[in-house]
Amino acid sequence: MIPTSINADMTIIQPDKKVALCSDHAGYELKAAIIAYLNNRGIGTDDFGTESSESCDYPDFAHPCAQAIESGRDYPGIAMCGTGNGIAMTLNKHQGIRAALCWTTELARLARAHNDANVLVLPARFIDTESALAIVDTFLSTPFDGGRHIRRVEKIAVKQ
Ligand code: RB5
Repeated sequence: MIPTSINADMTIIQPDKKVALCSDHAGYELKAAIIAYLNNRGIGTDDFGTESSESCDYPDFAHPCAQAIESGRDYPGIAMCGTGNGIAMTLNKHQGIRAALCWTTELARLARAHNDANVLVLPARFIDTESALAIVDTFLSTPFDGGRHIRRVEKIAVKQ
């Protein structure tokens, strides 16, 4: 159950939506740590897998995760694989997704402020859990700046 009152500094968390997460085997342990971290803070999560450290293919989990965000059921998303690249490439095939690969808090801040990123992507094999949680905090607590960035963000999706 998602509480109606959420931590005030998690600006982009919406009380009626869950955070969608997905990973492959390389990101499985980090995903579990992030889910525990968010749930302990009263933030609901939807876990699209994978469910173990057994070798698997990241697109199998990225596509359903992207669809949940695109449909408006979940917001935002957090995804990870070993480098972050494969899962980010897959997520960004969806026109409603703006997935940003971030390995510092500053990159996460800018991905939200300038790009209105709706999925944070983490390179699980290249950052430790403490750094990842700090990046998650920054991503979830940074609003979109709007202004001149609106026009640019509106031009990202391929016209159907
Ligand atoms: C898995 O070995 C690895 O290739 C995957 O996690 C990711 O880094 C791909 O982009």
